[in-house]
Amino acid sequence: MSVDFATPRSETSAPTVVKLGSHIGARIDGVRLGGDLDAAAVAVIERALLDHKVVFFRGQKHLDEDSQFDFAELLGIPTTPHPTVKGYGAKTLPIDAEYVRADSWHTDVTFVDRIPKAAILRAEALPSYGGTTTWASTVAAYAALPEPLKDLVSNLWAVHSNVYDYAAHAAQRVDGQFAEYREAFESSYFETIHPVVRVHPETGERALLLGQFVKSFVGFGTVESQKLYELLQTRITKLENTVRWNWELGDVAIWDNRATQHYAISDYDDQPRRLTRITLAGDVPVAISGEQSKIVSGDASDYSPIDNPVRVDA
Ligand SMILES: [Fe+2]
Repeated sequence: MSVDFATPRSETSAPTVVKLGSHIGARIDGVRLGGDLDAAAVAVIERALLDHKVVFFRGQKHLDEDSQFDFAELLGIPTTPHPTVKGYGAKTLPIDAEYVRADSWHTDVTFVDRIPKAAILRAEALPSYGGTTTWASTVAAYAALPEPLKDLVSNLWAVHSNVYDYAAHAAQRVDGQFAEYREAFESSYFETIHPVVRVHPETGERALLLGQFVKSFVGFGTVESQKLYELLQTRITKLENTVRWNWELGDVAIWDNRATQHYAISDYDDQPRRLTRITLAGDVPVAISGEQSKIVSGDASDYSPIDNPVRVDA
């Protein structure tokens, strides 16, 4: 009779990519994240991120702020935690329900010119129910547009700002620590004009670039901008374009911030929920015409360098 000794999982064995939906999402198994991850595993993660837009890892409880940062450096250049929210975390931005809830659809930090290419989010404290996060593929949304809408957005530009209309977010709490965080968020003014269709710098795919920081569309008034925004945004958040993740402690999610929007569902009442985020430097978006985004106000050079990636095939 032989004894079946469990073989310890090799930290250098090839990670397995498990697809979660036809348009977006994959779970990557068999990998222990950290600054010592081998190049082959990093390459698998980078490829999966381009293919699936958001990837998830279970069981990374060994990570702390430092090792999350060391791992982030293998995938790109970590930015400072945030362009305006400072003093909340040294190397990471805490996403803490005590003072912020990301319960509206957005792409991270689109009010600057150099939008981060990706974000790495790690769960530190979770509620006993609720608190899931949903991501949507802005590439799938563009691909599904009827031709006349593709024509409309091909030369459409949107104004993004970090000071947006909170009347539109009436459910957002503005007392105590929420008000402090909001004040920090708006402490300097950023406004940038981005193409509504950006060409992904690595895959060449076309993606819709919108989200909650959009103030208006160039050439359109407030009312028309709202209607047009709703028309396009509804296309992005169509359930078929999304994947929803039910967090466990130690989970890590990485998303391609050039190809997605996300929404943290605020359905956990007053329970603690805390995740730590690191964003990676990205490039300045490019329209189908080849034109780049234009800064109206604000200098994000202290927040992030511009990291121009190498084009790979989709
Ligand atoms: Fe976010």
